[in-house]
Amino acid sequence: MNAGVLGTGHYLPTKVVTNNDMEKIVDTNDEWIRTRTGIEERRFAEDDVNTSDMAYFAALNALEEADVAAEDIDLILVATVTPDTPFPSVACMIQDKLGASKAAAMDVSAACSGFMYGMITAKQFIETGAYKKVLVVGTEKLSKITNWEDRGTCVLLGDGAGAAVIGEVSEGRGILSFELGANGAGGKELYQDENDYLVMNGREVFKFAVRQMPESTVNVVEKIGLNKEDVDYLIPHQANIRIMDAARERLGISADKMATTIKKYGNNSSASIPMALSESVKNGKIKDDDLIVLVGFGGGLTWGAVAMRWGR
Ligand code: UT7
Repeated sequence: MNAGVLGTGHYLPTKVVTNNDMEKIVDTNDEWIRTRTGIEERRFAEDDVNTSDMAYFAALNALEEADVAAEDIDLILVATVTPDTPFPSVACMIQDKLGASKAAAMDVSAACSGFMYGMITAKQFIETGAYKKVLVVGTEKLSKITNWEDRGTCVLLGDGAGAAVIGEVSEGRGILSFELGANGAGGKELYQDENDYLVMNGREVFKFAVRQMPESTVNVVEKIGLNKEDVDYLIPHQANIRIMDAARERLGISADKMATTIKKYGNNSSASIPMALSESVKNGKIKDDDLIVLVGFGGGLTWGAVAMRWGR
């Protein structure tokens, strides 16, 4: 039995903040942000919109695309580093709002790799036959944990949510291989401090990401007996266009075969990959039977990737 994506969804906050707007907050400039990161603007959630609200809207969108009723969901996994509260979990909050009454629910903590951890966990439950439908969400209100005096991080981050319904798909399709990893010794490079601010050693994370993304991509395609040349579409974590382009070039993948949402949304941590996936589906970038690789990395340090044959 193969687990795959039955439907995708995302939610974008309405407040658009440009690089010029950021110049009014911190000592920075549009040119630096564009050339060093590829970001042109980002979205911030309104004060009364919390992480669980964005998760709920992204989930509704995914359920609709999947044509699955909330009551048929067996498990909800929400990846986030910015939950409304440590407990109850965001997963429990949206279980209630969605009316997913039979679903078990929990949050997953793996920073920017959280959606990958969630998706790969969902795959196990589906393929053992324990569950039929799992809702996986990545949702972040990073503006809650942003240090507005740290120009090295505040210009990078944005809010948003993405979701996918995972369930059984036809033979040969779905998530064909995966890789998950962690290196706790690297935790000091990217963490939340005692003031609740996100703190990052940008250069170290950069080096880790440029190495990890191509390595994990090659590993997941080789596990299914294919090569990097066989990848039709790459959906990387959206942290920095320089990291994404370096990975892409190492893999020999052309720019049109990579999802790039960072320009408009910045880095959305665990929401980046599902937002990019949902947008790519809606924009018709992904066709049935395409070989897709999703690959993420982040705080922990953690990483995760899947190779997936698209279609139900
Ligand atoms: O999703 C989580 C994973 N996160 C990442 O993947 C991020 C990985 N790291 C990066 O993307 C990059 O390291 C950054 C974008 C964070 C920084 O780019 P960089 O090319 O590594 O710059 P840097 O930190 O080496 O800083 C270069 C200069 C410094 O000035 P001096 O010391 O050379 O005078 C910084 O103070 O750029 C300065 N700088 C800025 N200038 C204008 C740092 N941030 C800014 C800014 N505006 N926003």
